[in-house]
Amino acid sequence: ELPSLKEIYAEVFYVGTAVSPYQLAEPDCISLIKEQFNSMTCENEMKPDSLLDKQTTLSDIEKYRECPAVHFDKCKDQLEFAKENGIKMRGHTLVWYSQTPEWLFYKDYDTSGELADRELMLKRMENYIKSVFEWADSEYPGLFYAWDVVNEAAADQGKAMRDCLWLQTIGDDYIEKAFEYARKYQPAGVKLYYNDYNAFQINKQLEIIDFLRPVAEAGNIDGVGMQSHIGTWCNTESYGEALRRYNTELGVEISITELDISKDNSEDWQKTQGDYAQKFMEKILQLKSEGVPITSFTVWGLKDTMSWKSNESPLFFDGKMNAKPSFYGLVAAK
Ligand code: XIL
Repeated sequence: ELPSLKEIYAEVFYVGTAVSPYQLAEPDCISLIKEQFNSMTCENEMKPDSLLDKQTTLSDIEKYRECPAVHFDKCKDQLEFAKENGIKMRGHTLVWYSQTPEWLFYKDYDTSGELADRELMLKRMENYIKSVFEWADSEYPGLFYAWDVVNEAAADQGKAMRDCLWLQTIGDDYIEKAFEYARKYQPAGVKLYYNDYNAFQINKQLEIIDFLRPVAEAGNIDGVGMQSHIGTWCNTESYGEALRRYNTELGVEISITELDISKDNSEDWQKTQGDYAQKFMEKILQLKSEGVPITSFTVWGLKDTMSWKSNESPLFFDGKMNAKPSFYGLVAAK
């Protein structure tokens, strides 16, 4: 019988996976989720482009000018499934440059018109966060334990904030504002996270610490999420140092939020991937035992053929749902 990650790591952290709605119609996916995981993230269905209700918003621009309408049709099946099976949720994600409709940033919700000004966008940001949190708290109290408030705000290679419409309309305190509003409306028991990829690269890391410092000083952030879309090239020593640095510099907890490990070019890639997965998990466990608060460990999908990077076979089960060496690497690290 297959070992169960959620059982092996029950005393250590939540073990999660990203889930898409179509997978909940496939029996082998359902059993895998139930056996292996006690945490879930919607792969796409709680992103702004899924939650923002364009039709309703456009039906009465004056009414919705400061408070765009939201709906939760797309994520409901996943949330019901999680609730029924005692699985906790990571909310992903509120403020992001991507998968966020452009019309949100225009005064009349019309991309051929003028951009909304700072004051209006602050209202929209506040009301959006408020609407999502209030809905989650009233429909699914206690289901969510963490939310990615801001996603991917650092530029690649670091040294700057990513240019995006949030930055252009609100200005460079948009991250502080997002966390301020999130703190104001957060449901009880929810941790507020900043989430990013390559957040272990030194320049990017320092930039992130820089722009999160005022957020931490205001007491508005609880965690940093390491997406961890990596490969065997990722040095686990520097990765570990980054986790420790976020924790000591910002006083936050850490989660691994979107792990996948792209295959390398070797003929024996399943083995090198497996060895790497073990080494990676060992590093995480070592940090945890040294006192770095790592609270969840999420892989970004169920099996290679369902991965957003399916041609890089980065997951822990193959297309036939057989456990790969990378799965056994995660198991062996304990
Ligand atoms: C990805 C999903 O996996 C894809 O299905 C979608 O087409 C694009 O987004 N960083 C994130 C995730 O925070 O939301 C992204 O998910 C992967 C990178």
